[in-house]
Amino acid sequence: MIIGSGVAGLNASMYLPKSMDTLVVSKDYAWECNTFFAQGGVAVASSKTDISLHVEDTLNAGDGHCNQDIVELMCIEGQNRIKDLMKFGFEFDKDSKGNLLYTKEAAHSTSRILHAGGDATGRELHLFLMKNLKFPILYNTQVVDILIKNNVCYGVEVFHDGKVFNIYAKKIVIASGGIGSLYEYHTNSRSISADLHGICYEHGIELRDMEMMQFHPTVFVKSRVVRKQLLSESLRGEGATIVDEDGNRFLFDYDKRGELSPRNVVSEALYEYHKKTNKDIYLDVSNFQENYFKKRFPTIYFNMKNSGFNLPKDKIPISPAFHYAIGGVKTDFNGKIDNIKDIYFIGEVASTGAHGANRLASNSLLEGLVFSQRAAKDIIKTISYNKKNRHFASSNEQLVKNGDKELKNELRNFMWQNAGIVRYKADLKKALNRVEEMLKLPIGKLIRLRLLTSRGIIKSALKREKSLGAHYIKGKN
Ligand code: SIN
Repeated sequence: MIIGSGVAGLNASMYLPKSMDTLVVSKDYAWECNTFFAQGGVAVASSKTDISLHVEDTLNAGDGHCNQDIVELMCIEGQNRIKDLMKFGFEFDKDSKGNLLYTKEAAHSTSRILHAGGDATGRELHLFLMKNLKFPILYNTQVVDILIKNNVCYGVEVFHDGKVFNIYAKKIVIASGGIGSLYEYHTNSRSISADLHGICYEHGIELRDMEMMQFHPTVFVKSRVVRKQLLSESLRGEGATIVDEDGNRFLFDYDKRGELSPRNVVSEALYEYHKKTNKDIYLDVSNFQENYFKKRFPTIYFNMKNSGFNLPKDKIPISPAFHYAIGGVKTDFNGKIDNIKDIYFIGEVASTGAHGANRLASNSLLEGLVFSQRAAKDIIKTISYNKKNRHFASSNEQLVKNGDKELKNELRNFMWQNAGIVRYKADLKKALNRVEEMLKLPIGKLIRLRLLTSRGIIKSALKREKSLGAHYIKGKN
């Protein structure tokens, strides 16, 4: 059974034989996943010689906190996973001569980002994997528990169509994504709400680097929709600039790489500059010709047009917003965890160690492709059809109670204020106290799971006293 219909879950299914009866469980509609909204592309070494540079860039962005073996494996095997995708029939954007088009993003020393449909890489990839899905998919099904006994996983408890029930499987793959809905401003799908992380905390499954939450610097947040409009890094990779309301390119005051500094550096600079000057900040894309822009960035062009912007002429007001959970369930090379058998974690929910303290742009789709294939291979090798199902009684815990929605909104607001781009110890402590108070209230299970994950993020942030990568902490107390 595969939980999640993003790149990791669907790509794992590509490597499982049809004879291996598999069920894909999707929390919402299948496209409500972060993969679908990914714009920039997939980072991959553009030649054999680029592999070592890709490794180096990933390690540098990760601020000394990556697992180097995992990074090397990802950069080497990544090339093969891209070849597989193309062999399966997926088409990345090419030039008129049929050569793959690679673009550049921040902190990459070479152009190595493959893209599809211009800035619709995630959507194209998702559509392709869905078209090739050979297994049934159960929609609108939310996992509310993982069924574990004596260190073996037997399945999950789900909520579907008004009922709570168990689904059993020989092997369970969790590819449920990150934690976006814990923050007031984010770029994530509406389905991404940290439930599985909360369930893992309840079962004592190890999560690591939970303070490493990544904020994307260029997001249009002035809209009423929950998922804010991402403005891909590849815009800056191809020459877009960040300016204040007077037209000053102030990023060079913070880092000599300017717009091409790593994501955390740009996000922090934007936050600090706005705090210091109170000036509005914009993404200026006027370096692009209109026809090229429309073709290369159609999603951004049309979405921003719907919000009243005429691109590439108009400047877009921007702010950082939560984008990606670097931390997650600690896994090995194959998505497995210590102590519990027959369960795998892949994609954003996992922490393989590939991203260290700050994920290099467009490495997430690559990580999803690489580790999903490894998990699938391990499943084929180790599955035991003799494994006996165990019966687990369904819990009667109420999932939602009156008042949960207000608490959820309060949580989103104080996570953004106190555990966001810049953290102060005193604010983190205040947030932790409020989370502990909320956990004592008569609340439903779903908000409790969110609170457990938030507590994990805050506690990890308090524990790491010095800034590192995406974790930027200030103040002494
Ligand atoms: C983007 O297109 O800027 C997002 C890429 C990523 O999150 O890796």
